[in-house]
Amino acid sequence: MTTHLPRPGSHSWSIVRRLTVWYVGSAFGLIVLATSVLYGALVSNLDREDDQFLADIIHIVQAFLRDRPDDTAGLKRAVEWEWASRQYAQVLVRILDENGQAIVESPDMSAVLAPAVFPPAIGIEGEPGSGAEIEGLSGSSYRVLTAHAPVGVSGSERRTIQVALNQAHELKLLGDYRRRLAWVLSIALVLCTTVGHAIARRAVRPVQEIAEAAKRVRSSTLGSRIDTATLPSEVAALAETFNTMLQRLQESFDRLSQFSADIAHELRTPVNNLRGEAEVALSKLRSPNEYQEILGSLLEESQRLSRIIDGLLFMARAETPQVHIARETLSVAQELSVVRDFYEPAATEVGVTLSVSASADLQVVVDRTLFQRAVGNLVANALTHTPSGGHASIEAVEDHRALQVAVRDTGRGIPPEHLPHVFDRFYRVDRSRSTTSGGLGLGLPLVQSIMRLHQGSVDIESRPGAGTCVYLRFPVHPLAESASAGGV
Ligand SMILES: Nc1ncnc2c1ncn2[C@@H]1O[C@H](COP(=O)(O)OP(=O)(O)O)[C@@H](O)[C@H]1O
Ligand SMILES: [Mg+2]
Repeated sequence: MTTHLPRPGSHSWSIVRRLTVWYVGSAFGLIVLATSVLYGALVSNLDREDDQFLADIIHIVQAFLRDRPDDTAGLKRAVEWEWASRQYAQVLVRILDENGQAIVESPDMSAVLAPAVFPPAIGIEGEPGSGAEIEGLSGSSYRVLTAHAPVGVSGSERRTIQVALNQAHELKLLGDYRRRLAWVLSIALVLCTTVGHAIARRAVRPVQEIAEAAKRVRSSTLGSRIDTATLPSEVAALAETFNTMLQRLQESFDRLSQFSADIAHELRTPVNNLRGEAEVALSKLRSPNEYQEILGSLLEESQRLSRIIDGLLFMARAETPQVHIARETLSVAQELSVVRDFYEPAATEVGVTLSVSASADLQVVVDRTLFQRAVGNLVANALTHTPSGGHASIEAVEDHRALQVAVRDTGRGIPPEHLPHVFDRFYRVDRSRSTTSGGLGLGLPLVQSIMRLHQGSVDIESRPGAGTCVYLRFPVHPLAESASAGGV
């Protein structure tokens, strides 16, 4: 069998890597684009300049042919000496008659550029168009231009002028330029990568800090927090979430520690009692009556112990979310009267009247035992804390899609400073009473666990001297709706 857990590092790119790639991609891309555009502009400017230069020469030759049509010697001198002797930007000129025969041409011109390789004259009659690039027989590249020119003022005859500019020098210049650009671009690439990587690392640094802080958390360091003041806002939110998580963990952890201490404390008293009584009993020989009495007392203490353990076990089970409760549709009035019947004798004994009010058609979908236990615990509390002549009542009403069961008494109430704690395990308002009168401080926490299991809630109101009221709210379960609608 194979597992499909992602191995760290193998499943995706790190943020630093992604950011670096994006940064290098965009920054270097822009640099390359800008450089290419500038290089293109340079090349086309050079070409235009060359064309203008060639056009100038054509204009000169045209003027010569127009003004001095018979001065072939003068033309020859200009063509063969003046222009051909240029060292950089070497110019070649050829003048053809109407039959295509060369009249004048620069020395050695036919060795590199035959008349036929020139493009035909384009553009307006007499005006040079734009130049073309051709390769001469010697292998070097030439910018060439062709134009017609009328001879003399009458213009009865026509010559063709072919001019070529050797571009070797220019190409070498561009080559140098390209090499330099390549250098600049390579350095830019290295710089972009380094800078991008540094920026990306800086950006994710706070996240790494949080991760490291998370790694350092131990049960003993739950009190530590990440300082969010120095963090950028996006990460501060994450750190705050992390801090609140720590806060919650710390609270649960503290509660658990306190709870363990409480359990140890609560178990110690009955166990000590058991031991003490047994030791006293064994210290000398006793009559059967005495043994019976001592055994009865031992039994009482062990019962108390098992009640504590049962309660704790039940609550521990109720805390696990997947615990299953056996819900059934019940008549509320019927269940409450069962509870009343159970507590009636005790109520009579302490001189408290006990009443139930619930309409007969009220239904609820709950676990029967747990429902009775929750209400029963509240009634037991009411009876314990209500003096003789008082009254306790159980009232059930349907309210905002929930069933509300209120257990009310006219007893001595709970002082406000104790009220927030009465749902804590082992909490008792009157601690001194606890060991003798059997209050474990687990009644209300049990009720709360039961309500949690039913996705319900419990609330308490109390006024010292006036009485106490505890409200249980059971949300209407889908089953109850279908039951009341379809009569299932
Ligand atoms: N109806 C009530 N009237 C006055 N005090 C009450 C009432 N219900 C609960 N209390 C107080 O709340 C404390 C916690 O109740 P509970 O969890 O049932 O524990 P126990 O009843 O075992 O002491 C009790 O010790 C008691 O002081
Ligand atoms: Mg109780």
